[in-house]
Amino acid sequence: MSNGDVSQGRRRFLIGATSVVGGVGVVGAAVPFVASWNPSAKAEAAGAPVTVNVSKLEPGQQITVEWRGKPVWLIRRTEEMLANIKKQNDRVKDPESAEASQQPGYITGEFRSLKPELVVLVGLCTHLGCVPSYRPEVAAADLGGDWLGGLFCPCHGSKYDLAGRVYDSQPAPSNLEVPPYRYENDATVTIGLDPETV
Ligand code: FES
Repeated sequence: MSNGDVSQGRRRFLIGATSVVGGVGVVGAAVPFVASWNPSAKAEAAGAPVTVNVSKLEPGQQITVEWRGKPVWLIRRTEEMLANIKKQNDRVKDPESAEASQQPGYITGEFRSLKPELVVLVGLCTHLGCVPSYRPEVAAADLGGDWLGGLFCPCHGSKYDLAGRVYDSQPAPSNLEVPPYRYENDATVTIGLDPETV
């Protein structure tokens, strides 16, 4: 795929994102409860933090919000998903999140999240910036019998697990980025702010 195609992929995201500003505020799955995310265009342009109510995010469900012009995914992982992440430690490039540029310092280890059940990831492939697809189904027919659920980039085929860890021998050089984020309480996450006690 040429860079032109990739730019077009990104442009598609940006067009899609723009169309929801001022609406419900969800770029991906239409989940009405994320109404609390509705920053003004001015605040958004300034890179304002984005607050998301995650109380009704079901196990296995993924939603997308926009932060600083990027798609940010929130995925509620099940116990099975967490077990499958552990099984892939020897198949991914950076199993313990050692590459400091890909997450804040308080995000460590294999799950790459403040709480195991909820992961927050910037939904842009670290190869050339396409938006990967959420593919949680185990042994998906098109991804192989050893596929244990993850993210798949349609542009050049990079595969990530459900912690955003890239597999070995992929075009993408590193794990998906984890943005700064914190819990305001059990039901509310703010993207763009660090925890108060880091
Ligand atoms: S942009 Fe090339 S694999 Fe994702």
